[in-house]
Amino acid sequence: MEATLAETKPLDRISARTAAVQPSATMAVESKVKRMRAAGEAVISFGAGEPDFPTPEPIKQAAIKAIQDNFTRYTETGGMAALKEAIAARERQNTGLDYKASQVATHTGGKESLYLAFQALCEAGDEVLIPAPYWVSYVEQVRLAEATPVIVPTTADTGFKVNAALLARYTTPRTRILVLNSPSNPTGMVYSQAELEDIASWARTNQVIILSDELYDRIVFNPPYARWLRVAPDLYERTVIINGLSKAYAMTGWRLGYAVGPEWIIKAMLKIQSHSNSHPSSITQAAALAAYTLDLEAEIAKMVAAFKERRDWIVRALNEIAGVRCLMPEGAFYVFPDFSALLGKPLKYGRTCSTTEELAMYLLDTVKVGIVHGEAFGAPGCARLSYAMSLEQIKEGVARIQDALTLA
Ligand SMILES: Cc1ncc(COP(=O)(O)O)c(C=O)c1O
Repeated sequence: MEATLAETKPLDRISARTAAVQPSATMAVESKVKRMRAAGEAVISFGAGEPDFPTPEPIKQAAIKAIQDNFTRYTETGGMAALKEAIAARERQNTGLDYKASQVATHTGGKESLYLAFQALCEAGDEVLIPAPYWVSYVEQVRLAEATPVIVPTTADTGFKVNAALLARYTTPRTRILVLNSPSNPTGMVYSQAELEDIASWARTNQVIILSDELYDRIVFNPPYARWLRVAPDLYERTVIINGLSKAYAMTGWRLGYAVGPEWIIKAMLKIQSHSNSHPSSITQAAALAAYTLDLEAEIAKMVAAFKERRDWIVRALNEIAGVRCLMPEGAFYVFPDFSALLGKPLKYGRTCSTTEELAMYLLDTVKVGIVHGEAFGAPGCARLSYAMSLEQIKEGVARIQDALTLA
């Protein structure tokens, strides 16, 4: 019998590159938490990667004014000139290097900036070095650009950091990009000046582009922060800085990220953007301009001080749990404890977990605590906890974890 048209040409086919993408595990944890909360359960979630503070008032007022002033039309692709100039000025100050507005493009979140950078720079066969533990979207974005993610594993013993010798082991003639993320999501680790100098020595001898994801650059606890281009200004021509407002200004929902780098890369990214989403919302751009031109340093300092107090508390408390080892992060708002000593052991509520994925499910099912398993970040045995919540909630959540991790 001949095949029907429905069989030879199925309508419900999705592209192979989409089928290959894994949905975001951090989002998956959050949706399960939301479902449980909707069902009336008192869940404490360490899953969300966003500050718990409200957006600073002057930023909100700027957005309200933009609406009232009818600043509601299309802007230029990549963002309005005044915002690009404000971002260029900020990056001139950050790096001590010369940046023009034509080297800046704004996007709907740093997530889109990264996506467009990979799309603009990669093709099939290119390899992108991604140090693990990594932020979940890098790997999938590289795959969507039809390039190959090459995971460079690290452990707690080296502070979850890569170095020149390790990178050299994973470098091939096809290596195109290194993704550098300091402070890191998920580990909170911050590279020192000496560590970045070492990585720069590797970068200089290889024809590679550095994507420096600096989303958490304002959330550092032991300043001064060693900024990539301050350490390696000679690599200006091959560095793309990715940053945004989500974390520093508590603006995750506004969606404003940006890329700053060599004009040829920014132009290529703009080409794609001009056919996809054009620019972030005009209202968000007005808010971002306020964030970058008003003096909000005191607001940021307040948030960072709160994060630091919570970090100190949670690291100490986690290390007091038998079988848990937690490094002291120097930035962002995550801790990345190692639970591997508890795997394979019978736990209080009648389960033995062989992976941290199972452990995360056990905690959610038994004591209603959400954490994100390390497998999602390329680091089995560990898990990520975001401490962007009140100290009271952190204390309650850690107490529940401690209870559930008691050996049976
Ligand atoms: C390391 C890192 N880079 C980029 C992003 C993207 O942030 P956004 O799209 O909100 O700007 C995030 C968000 O969680 C992140 O953790």
